Amino acid sequence: MIAPEVAQRLASVGPGTPMGNLLRRYWYPIAAGPELNQDPVRLLGEDLILFRSGKGELGLIGPRCAHRGLSLAYGIPQENGLRCAFHGWTYDTAGQVVGMPFEPACLPLYITAYRVQELGGLIFAYLGPEPAPLLPRWDSLVRTDATKRVEFTTLPCSWLQCVENIMDPVHVEHLHGHYNNYFRQRRGIETKVLPKRHVKMEFDVKRYGIYKRRLLEGQSEDTYEWQVGHPLLFPNILGLPTEDRMLLDYRVPIDDSHTNDVSYFAIRPENWEPLDPLVRVDYDPLTYDESGRVEGRDVGRQDEMAFVAQGPITDRSRWHPATSDKGVVLLHRLLLENIERVERREDPLGVIRDPEENEPMIQIDPGPKPGGWMATFMGGQFKRDVWELTGWTGADQPSGASSPQPAMS
Ligand code: FES
Ligand SMILES: [Fe+2]
Repeated sequence: MIAPEVAQRLASVGPGTPMGNLLRRYWYPIAAGPELNQDPVRLLGEDLILFRSGKGELGLIGPRCAHRGLSLAYGIPQENGLRCAFHGWTYDTAGQVVGMPFEPACLPLYITAYRVQELGGLIFAYLGPEPAPLLPRWDSLVRTDATKRVEFTTLPCSWLQCVENIMDPVHVEHLHGHYNNYFRQRRGIETKVLPKRHVKMEFDVKRYGIYKRRLLEGQSEDTYEWQVGHPLLFPNILGLPTEDRMLLDYRVPIDDSHTNDVSYFAIRPENWEPLDPLVRVDYDPLTYDESGRVEGRDVGRQDEMAFVAQGPITDRSRWHPATSDKGVVLLHRLLLENIERVERREDPLGVIRDPEENEPMIQIDPGPKPGGWMATFMGGQFKRDVWELTGWTGADQPSGASSPQPAMS
């Protein structure tokens, strides 16, 4: 059982909450691409406006003009910042008013402003106290030997439900195996997935987070997935390097009951085809059936279905955690311990301040491995099933154009 006050501590991410204070020690992707349209951003319960000045500088500032409160989503980018549409007051990227066209002098006024940084085609924000830690240079973001693609999906549920799933190996058998088969059967599609049972699972806490390891029925203990596994980069990123593509899946807390699932794929070309220098950006909203259920059409969507189907904020005080929840219990313990570290003014798990550690990149992908774990788990037919279900036609598909493998955990 989880005490109601602990459940509350885990679930609230707004400014001033214990979990909110912990989560503000990390950087989050909030947008992608060179073109911005002063789009409103909501992150950790705060409403903000992201813009790019005429000089190319990025700004992330409070949502309303200090003069008479017009939304800065209507702002006009200038060489020196963002100009309010109403009477022209202009804000620089530090949130300072640098122009008041009708006034005899510019008053010394500031609105909220946060740090923003670009890496790998993504725009990251940091909402915490100074000095800010370094933006982690995970290998997928930095490497130049892969084509990049990012997909955004807004989920009407708490970020923690999305992250607990990363620490839950057993769901793969049921959600991606049995439920997947049932979903297909109901639609008249031949059932092919034969999931293997989990025999053992272990979790190792390391420098950047938790590595999850699994041993499946019939496997020897020298498989990559049992010896090394793959990480949850604390507190919210699934790192999944497979043999031909790397995935960083950021589960970004919008507020207590909404999450932005940002899936970043780095795909290695199979036959030295030229790389696409642009990061392709897609928005992939959930789809629902006639009864309002999320359609779990593929592995990534089945995960998202499970996050959302627990409700906007699951009531953990009513849970019955069992043997399969060993990883989830460990995650909760680490989150609570790191809340206390922040309260003692220490850096929490995974925070990076040493440039030598961060440069040129932090390697998550250990390189080619004999077979991906998902192929081992589901059998060689699995990839073809995913292509059929999703239209995914990655580089190693028999024919077709490109689109990445869905997120897995
Ligand atoms: S409300 Fe923004 S300049 Fe007047
Ligand atoms: Fe999953």
